[in-house]
Amino acid sequence: MTDVVLTSVAEGVATVTLNRPAKKNAITTAMYTALADALDAAEGDPDVRAVLLRGDETVFCAGNDIGDFLDRPEAGPDDPGFRFLRTIARFPKPLVAAVCGPAVGVGATMLLHCDLVYAGEGATLHFPFVDLGLVPEAGSSLLLPQAVGHQRAAAALMLGEPLGAAAALDAGLVNRVLPDAEVLGVAHDQAARLAAKPVTALRETKRLLRSGTQAALLDRIEDEGAVFTRLLGEPEARAALSSFLARP
Ligand code: COA
Repeated sequence: MTDVVLTSVAEGVATVTLNRPAKKNAITTAMYTALADALDAAEGDPDVRAVLLRGDETVFCAGNDIGDFLDRPEAGPDDPGFRFLRTIARFPKPLVAAVCGPAVGVGATMLLHCDLVYAGEGATLHFPFVDLGLVPEAGSSLLLPQAVGHQRAAAALMLGEPLGAAAALDAGLVNRVLPDAEVLGVAHDQAARLAAKPVTALRETKRLLRSGTQAALLDRIEDEGAVFTRLLGEPEARAALSSFLARP
């Protein structure tokens, strides 16, 4: 496990922390592997009864590392990024997220796979795929309209309009908005509450909540992934991604 993804277990809760603040917790290929490994370990550990995903008090995650996108446009279905998406989509134990500051790209779409999401007042959820010449991923083209309705999903996914914390709460994408300094503690407490509940009942409840969508979700992740990978090699995406890195 690399030090840019930290894990610890306490009170039945595995905490998985994105820890690359200098790059706004942008996720590299190695970090996707570390995240998928952390979720696999949490699934297999009987002492872990819930998982908390977090960044720090200033940033949750700026999405995929843009340099990695440019270096590896050919990434296919066996890529660590897709492995992480399949792993989080299938993850059977309760997942809680603590979100402060920006959650961009996969930093936002991974929240759609969480059962409870606690946001700081400064949190923003941003899905800028189209502006980058790309398409939504992580099953977000299915999960977001299911969660918020087509028109709000279109504003987020097609116009690329960021949702602030209050808008995300209003849309039903987060459970509570809190002062940034309180988010990590409250989210951990809620994960610990889940961890104290009857384990089989909780796990079956999560399975039932997801069961109407699960097969379609895994198919959609594959569909999106194929288009995403194709577009990543196209000039529009390469120009948009390069211009981010070339900022003064
Ligand atoms: N990939 C690689 N590096 C990234 C990154 C990403 N997705 N997001 C941020 N960084 C880097 C910046 O290049 C900068 O590096 P530098 O200090 O070496 O120049 C550093 O992180 C700080 O980012 P900065 O943009 O200066 O911080 P900010 O507070 O002004 O803005 C964000 C934060 C998250 C709003 C902004 O960085 C952003 O929009 N990032 C890109 C998000 C994105 O498009 N992700 C891909 C989605 S598919």
